[in-house]
Amino acid sequence: MTQPFPNNFLWGVATSAFQIEGRIENDMTDWERQGRFRTEQYDPVAGDTADHWRRWEDDFELLKQLGVNSYRFSVEWARIEPTPGQFNQRALDQYSRMIDRLLEKGITPMLTLHHFTHPTWFHERSPWHRSDAPESFMPFVQVVTEKLLDRVPLVVTINEPLVWLLAAYGEGKFPPGYKDLQLMMVALQRMLEAHRLAYDHIKSRRADTQVGIAHNFIVFKRARLNHLFDRHLKPLIHRFYNIMIPEAFQTNRLLYQFPLVLAYDEEIELDNRIDFWGINYYYRMHVRFRFNLERPFDVMFIPRSGEGQSDLGWEIYPKGLRKICKWLEFTGKPLYITENGIAAGDDQLRAEFLKKHLDSLRKAIDDGYPVRGYYHWSFLDNYEWLEGTRAKFGLYHVDFENDYRRSLKPSGALYREYIRDATTEDPAGS
Ligand code: GAL
Repeated sequence: MTQPFPNNFLWGVATSAFQIEGRIENDMTDWERQGRFRTEQYDPVAGDTADHWRRWEDDFELLKQLGVNSYRFSVEWARIEPTPGQFNQRALDQYSRMIDRLLEKGITPMLTLHHFTHPTWFHERSPWHRSDAPESFMPFVQVVTEKLLDRVPLVVTINEPLVWLLAAYGEGKFPPGYKDLQLMMVALQRMLEAHRLAYDHIKSRRADTQVGIAHNFIVFKRARLNHLFDRHLKPLIHRFYNIMIPEAFQTNRLLYQFPLVLAYDEEIELDNRIDFWGINYYYRMHVRFRFNLERPFDVMFIPRSGEGQSDLGWEIYPKGLRKICKWLEFTGKPLYITENGIAAGDDQLRAEFLKKHLDSLRKAIDDGYPVRGYYHWSFLDNYEWLEGTRAKFGLYHVDFENDYRRSLKPSGALYREYIRDATTEDPAGS
């Protein structure tokens, strides 16, 4: 029997524009055209997505049928500002109609401004490590604020800054394709400065809008329990990945030291300008020290929890959700689970994953953590960054071979039931 969740809890699903819309020209499709967007094993076609840009009206009906009361999605910068300073009115009109339709259906929009992708011109003019990057981002933010945010109560400025940076500046897998950790930290600083500018602008126009960041969190564990170096390594990696960014909002310092690998310490004027933390949570990883200066550690999946693993090898660890809420207690901010999901061809696995994570979330709420909403990743099977459409994250199946036909999976039906049970009026009105 599902316990009721607090009144006004937001039940949602999450997507990003590039992963579902189709017909987008941006840095990722450009990268693809150059043959650079490749991994060893797979050959994804960037932009091979769920055709949502044409099917959005039907899709929103599917949202309604799913029983969610909120929807997290992103607007595509490259679509809205295809050339610097020139805005595509038709795209803005469509996004505006989308927001209206969601509201008509009683679905609260949560809008993400930056979800991994850029107009191609951005990398040519002012990639994130350059000091003018935040300014290049702002005209887009201003237009979106003006035309769309009057009806949007929740805004995520940047999705997973660190995940994107590690791919684009750490491993060189995403455009602009650097492999330079020091430069990555500079780019992170600029992204956080861009958040601050966006925050100030949005608040000056729409004081009630809640503005946050969706951060990716990983639970780390020592690979070898009795190994001294693994023991020292774990907190170093945890701090970098999970704590450094939220902490910078309180200390006004972006600070990280990893002996012989990375040293960064700069002031950053954030002054706690953030209204909520978005938690994107997928898995646990294990860390193992190596006597190797070039690469002093490994971070890997060892499915030890007994809960199984996803099609991508990710260890399922539902307790992590509650742990992360605890880590974020020091911020004093409301929390939203802005992403949580699993790549699984076997839908039974997704159903179990979903149920266990919601139960873990329920415990976190009972413990008093201020979680205001949960967004499952994802609404539809979609384009996953390095794996293409083979990674199945959707609560709705999309038949990519047959006119993108959608059908509800049993895990989607389970979510619908869970929401129904959990939103039964709580007499205590908690
Ligand atoms: C997140 C990302 C999403 C989605 C998800 C599943 O890191 O924000 O865009 O791809 O992972 O891998």
